[in-house]
Amino acid sequence: MDFRPLAHFTAQDTWLNDPNGLIVRDGRWHLFFQNNPHGPDWGNMSWGHATSPDLLTWTRHPVAIAHEGPEAIFSGSAVEQDGRVAAVYTSAYADGRQAQSLAWSEDGFTFVKDPANPVLDRGSTGFRDPKVFRYGDSWRMVSVEADERTLLVHASTDLRSWTEVGRFRDEPGTGIWECPDLFPLRLDGEELWVLVLSVQDADGSRVVHRVGSFDGSVFTGGPPRLLDAGQDFYAPATWTGAPAGRRVLLGWMAQPTYAGATPTSPWRGAMTAPRDLSLARVDGSPVVVQKFSPEVTAAFSREVADLPPAALVRCGFDGDASWEFRAGPDVLRLAVEDGSLVVDRRASGLVDFHPQFARVDRLPLPAGTTGFSVLLDRCSVEVLAGPLAVTQLVFPREPFDELRTGGSASARVFAR
Ligand code: FRU
Repeated sequence: MDFRPLAHFTAQDTWLNDPNGLIVRDGRWHLFFQNNPHGPDWGNMSWGHATSPDLLTWTRHPVAIAHEGPEAIFSGSAVEQDGRVAAVYTSAYADGRQAQSLAWSEDGFTFVKDPANPVLDRGSTGFRDPKVFRYGDSWRMVSVEADERTLLVHASTDLRSWTEVGRFRDEPGTGIWECPDLFPLRLDGEELWVLVLSVQDADGSRVVHRVGSFDGSVFTGGPPRLLDAGQDFYAPATWTGAPAGRRVLLGWMAQPTYAGATPTSPWRGAMTAPRDLSLARVDGSPVVVQKFSPEVTAAFSREVADLPPAALVRCGFDGDASWEFRAGPDVLRLAVEDGSLVVDRRASGLVDFHPQFARVDRLPLPAGTTGFSVLLDRCSVEVLAGPLAVTQLVFPREPFDELRTGGSASARVFAR
């Protein structure tokens, strides 16, 4: 059984988690990622590296920033300053301390750690995941005090010396905060700011977003909403330096609770498809809408009669409907029932590797929805329906090769 995706990024033969340091430079999309260079399980955290000219075909490169002695290289971001790439990452030390560090690169491939590291240390064991971005004529960093569920905002002019300028916390809840991202998007000519946070909880981790305003130090936002209602979407980040007007997101296609148990070998962990973000109003409130990036939809241009192992399926409906992706006894069932999207992977193939995996989800569809897009690959399905996104892993023993529709369902299948 080879579950390796055809249209999603994986490490060659090792473990992968969060996307890191997403930056576009000289027309290349750089993807760094949390990687264990030595095996298929989490550990020895380092920044793996790949690049793509088109968000579709990825070339793997040697590990960019490797763990060293007592220092593991946790998640972070990358920016360009004075013609050099600055990777801003969390140094996670063997004694538990977490602080922010810098590594510099002339060519975007080989990095040298800054002798002043760590450049931002609060003496904390849960201070991590710096996302740095330009604000006016200086830099801002958002990071988390994970266990205190607090977002910190720091400012700098040189990336080396940082001053705290703001904090964001909200109502009590459970789970630790990780991997913040904060960026502007326009809606009806107005600039709004989107705060994305990954929330890790023992009984299931989720990514939430809030839309609001940011004045360089204070973020004020509406209530949290899921960015993706599926089980397997975590630690997303957006690219720095994307072409004008685009905000492109990539997530780790996994549920931290069972990410270490998924039945792939020797690689483990895949990224989502890249998605372009915009804002729309739902019941008067601004929310993020995700679409598969145009590079992805353009590649799946060949309409076909039979279901290929990687497919983009345009689904339409007008009342209750079902789409069954089948391979022998294995079936992944999508359905629209009473205005909800049903995603049933209980019989989708290998499901017993973790008690939380076999499940059926029912997610309310936005009012007025008459269709959605499905990106199916060897071990995943991503459903995008306006403001509803649902990302799920599936492990059919053979690639799904048959699509059966029921009720009012229509489907157009596209291959690469
Ligand atoms: C999120 C996360 C980050 C951390 C990294 C370590 O999945 O826990 O908070 O930096 O993974 O691999």
